[in-house]
Amino acid sequence: MARFRKIGVLTSGGDAPGMNAAVRAVVRSALARGVEVVGICKGYTGLISGELRSLTSLDVANISGWGGTILYSDRCDEFATEAGMAKAIKTCKDNEIDGIIACGGDGTFRGATDLSMRGIPTIGIPCTIDNDITSTDYSIGFDTAMNTVLHAADCLRDTCESHARGEVIEVMGRDAGYIAIECGIACGANAVAVKELPFDEDACIAKLIELREKGQRSFLIMHSEGMPKGFGENLTERMNKEANIDSRFIRLAHMVRGGAPTLRDRLTAARMGDFAVDLILEGKSDLVVCERDGKLVATDIAWALVVDRMYKNKLKDGDLEKFSEEQLDAMKVRCAEKRAVLEDLMDVAKTIGKN
Ligand code: F6P
Repeated sequence: MARFRKIGVLTSGGDAPGMNAAVRAVVRSALARGVEVVGICKGYTGLISGELRSLTSLDVANISGWGGTILYSDRCDEFATEAGMAKAIKTCKDNEIDGIIACGGDGTFRGATDLSMRGIPTIGIPCTIDNDITSTDYSIGFDTAMNTVLHAADCLRDTCESHARGEVIEVMGRDAGYIAIECGIACGANAVAVKELPFDEDACIAKLIELREKGQRSFLIMHSEGMPKGFGENLTERMNKEANIDSRFIRLAHMVRGGAPTLRDRLTAARMGDFAVDLILEGKSDLVVCERDGKLVATDIAWALVVDRMYKNKLKDGDLEKFSEEQLDAMKVRCAEKRAVLEDLMDVAKTIGKN
């Protein structure tokens, strides 16, 4: 196995609080093993254009508590083309980058696997506030995003209670409802709506009327951005007109992606960053670091991408052909586990939000 002298680290896709802590961990862990680290700016865009900066221990001092990413991030279409990939490989060769640790979501891992197929070892670290990477229980940024939503919901609760109002809150998460469900439970929402599970709007309105008649003053509804366009605005209108509750709609949008990472995100980033360096220096490649039942494990990126599409009902022709029966069974078990987590949470949200 060739000795690693220099590795690259990049952050790609939507930024997530904790990315800086992951970069710091990668840098410190690699330096401790005598390996240099170069930061690749703006994700795969910077790999194509050769925007690199060498990272010393001092360069990453004190960044664990910063939101965003000091390496910047981007969603790069050119990387999906052969021409873009060729430029990226040339950057690695010209700068003697022996391997890359890529922090991001599924788009980032697709890029990482393409690089590894062309001879550049890669390891992925899951970073997305959506927590929608099926192969891992947890992705960096989720906890911070939820605490930000929770703070916003608590603020809205205060003013709603004072004025006897309702608020429909839309939260990010792309097609995934984890942020909405967990925050809905935590802030005591009267109802939670996510794309993955059925939602009975008429029953929701009927329940709000009943609660108002019993004397409840403030009403919170939490929904994920994956719900059909206009869902939150329409529900707000119905609350005003049919339930006679003075209600507003708020979309928290990108504010949920910012802010100082929580302990959970800093700690997970430190553990995952260190583990990713271990893996790459052991000569492993094309893997994503996953947390399962509190332990860190490594999963093939190809498996991670396909189980993700299986869970999201987005399988492509031929997706399943390259896997053994055993691997396919493991995918089905994983999808069932993820679904059960969501359904259990929704049961809690319904029971707790009822009275
Ligand atoms: O994946 C993270 C995320 O914030 C999603 O929750 C959201 O749907 C999307 O990114 C927004 O993307 P952009 O920042 O490109 O608008």
